[in-house]
Amino acid sequence: MLVVDTEGEAAAATADAICAAGGTSTAVVADVAVSSDCQRAVAAAGALGRLHALVNVAGVMVADDTVEALDDAELDRVLAVNVGGIFRLGRHAIPELRKAGGGVIVNTASVHAYASMDRCAAYAASKGAIVALTRQMAIDLAVDGIRVVAVAPGSVDTPLTRRELERRGVTAADAGFGTSHAELGRVLQSDEIAAVISWLVSDAARAINGETVVADAGLLARLV
Ligand SMILES: NC(=O)c1ccc[n+]([C@@H]2O[C@H](COP(=O)([O-])OP(=O)(O)OC[C@H]3O[C@@H](n4cnc5c(N)ncnc54)[C@H](O)[C@@H]3O)[C@@H](O)[C@H]2O)c1
Repeated sequence: MLVVDTEGEAAAATADAICAAGGTSTAVVADVAVSSDCQRAVAAAGALGRLHALVNVAGVMVADDTVEALDDAELDRVLAVNVGGIFRLGRHAIPELRKAGGGVIVNTASVHAYASMDRCAAYAASKGAIVALTRQMAIDLAVDGIRVVAVAPGSVDTPLTRRELERRGVTAADAGFGTSHAELGRVLQSDEIAAVISWLVSDAARAINGETVVADAGLLARLV
């Protein structure tokens, strides 16, 4: 498995963890907003064997994300990483998946595609776009035996969430961190989303195509 990230140390740590668990993995430093980086990453994946799956996870949030406050550079960055990254990696990965006789692409959307909070304009727009893009890719790639699905996580305890809480002056306890497993809409752990992605990639999920699977512990279920 090839791990791609702009942060070399984080990517290497993930690759090491995969190897420690008995897998084969290498890390590559690449920016999904840069086409030549994506081309290099897909070429590096080829060195590990045939490409069977692409999981698009890279995503960014920016501060003060309103239509009025966001400047062009911030807007372009959010869209270039969250949506453009799927285009750029796909452009290079799809021919390789085709050569392998088909495969799976999993995109990472968010509950923000369906219900959001204040100051998330570009982020929510990017996640809504991923839901539509996933459906479109499934239509275009079905002929090649490539299944395209997305996961829409709820709140997950990651550095992104912790940074955002700090920016908004919300404590982890107030944000619902550490609540019991029975709590509707509880904060999830990354491995719970990884488990959903593993299932979506697997043949057991072959009936799912073009769809975005919400993995939010029921966060969207309750109106008030
Ligand atoms: N954390 C949540 O609550 C939550 C909820 C719903 C969806 N998501 C989505 O899940 C995905 C992962 O989020 P996270 O919470 O783990 O964020 P994170 O910031 O903790 O991790 C994101 C990773 O992506 C990498 N990255 C950022 N820009 C990149 C780029 N241009 N090229 C390559 N790598 C890049 C970062 O270095 C980092 O390792 C994102 O798409 C995010 O929008 C997160």
